[in-house]
Amino acid sequence: MTKSSLKLAIIGGGSSYTPELIEGVLKRLDHLPVKEIHFVDIEAGQNKLEIIVDLARRMVEKVGADITLKASLDRRAAIKEADFVMTQFRVGGLQARASDERIPLKYDVIGQETTGPGGFAKALRTIPVILDICNDIEELAPNAWMLNFTNPAGLVTEAVQKYTKVKTIGLCNVPVSMEMMIAEMMGCSPDKLTLECAGLNHLLWAHRAWLDGKDVTAEVLGKVGDGANFSMTNIFEEPWDPVFLKALGAIPCPYHRYFYQTDAMLAEEKGSAERDGTRAEQVMATERELFELYQDTSLDQKPEQLEQRGGAYYSDASLNLVDAIYNDLNTIHVVNVRNNGTIAGLPDDAVIECSAVVGNWGARPLAVGHLSPAVSGLVHQVKAYEQLTVEAAVHGDYDQAFMALANNPLVPDIKRAKAILDDILKANHDYLPQFSH
Ligand code: G6P
Repeated sequence: MTKSSLKLAIIGGGSSYTPELIEGVLKRLDHLPVKEIHFVDIEAGQNKLEIIVDLARRMVEKVGADITLKASLDRRAAIKEADFVMTQFRVGGLQARASDERIPLKYDVIGQETTGPGGFAKALRTIPVILDICNDIEELAPNAWMLNFTNPAGLVTEAVQKYTKVKTIGLCNVPVSMEMMIAEMMGCSPDKLTLECAGLNHLLWAHRAWLDGKDVTAEVLGKVGDGANFSMTNIFEEPWDPVFLKALGAIPCPYHRYFYQTDAMLAEEKGSAERDGTRAEQVMATERELFELYQDTSLDQKPEQLEQRGGAYYSDASLNLVDAIYNDLNTIHVVNVRNNGTIAGLPDDAVIECSAVVGNWGARPLAVGHLSPAVSGLVHQVKAYEQLTVEAAVHGDYDQAFMALANNPLVPDIKRAKAILDDILKANHDYLPQFSH
């Protein structure tokens, strides 16, 4: 890119996470000439949007940056001629997330924002909306990069790759968080570490960890098995069995607990839903607190309380990517991109999460080849679930939706798959026009 000024469009700008993104922009002004940020949201989010843009203004003024900030409900105006479109919205808000978490729990199935039936429901609501946004990008900013954070990020990115021409990269904060936590346990700075990552979003393994040219995978697994901190604030830190980790031989991501330790995670979820509410219900309280704080006119930086949310480091992940693309750095990042033969045996058009070289030509994944049998079965099964979910979301197809849940490893039998599906369709009726036939 040779442009001397950059425009960012933030879809879902009223998110409580946005101050983190602003901080990320302000930290990089010496090499990222961001001159305009246009935050956009829907009518229901207008109040939050205004609070966020006021705080963003104070943050920008504090460092004396020359950035025009705009906030509106006009998505097309925000997208027009943007260089980067960042998507971070939540269709149905936290209420819908709470329902995604509660419905499966009724059937003794994991109820979680992105994995299992919860993530499935979120995908059904979100995919039609992202495709609509992509129509606008194709028309109004065809050269823009869309960096998608909207969950379930892998599925949403796959829908965009399959059904639009938009240049897109899906992103998550899990890989960068894994790197920070491993650096901490190894007592080194994160830039000394290299992780060979491959899998799917929220189903990512670091297959090898390197420190100063030495393979330290076994050592890291030993520390994780020994109880070193290795989770996200939104995931219960069920201890790992060291014997299992040694046998697995790859470093699982925190979300793997749902797949490998399902009974314990389910028991914990049920207990905490009864005691303190589901994660969404807890986050609603945190959000209220955050927006109270954001309205304090003396606040001119990201408040520490934001770290209670699971999305820590998300601005680093996305702004580092903007940096790599704009400045053509050809550095390695873990991203969600089209497989294109990277993981042998998965379809070319499946979106995977893996280490990739990123420059102004986009993200090119590093070849993985065949995954070991210890992990490949789970990847294939979850990918089949994801493919079916994308098709169900796009076409409003009940059979594919049923098969998606029936193939999800967290759903133990078809009777429960069907009951959960029917509950999801009913509870989300207003957000699923594609199923109304
Ligand atoms: C993790 C995930 C994100 C997710 C977030 C939820 O960090 O990687 O995809 O959105 O947690 O955090 P929350 O605080 O909303 O539960």
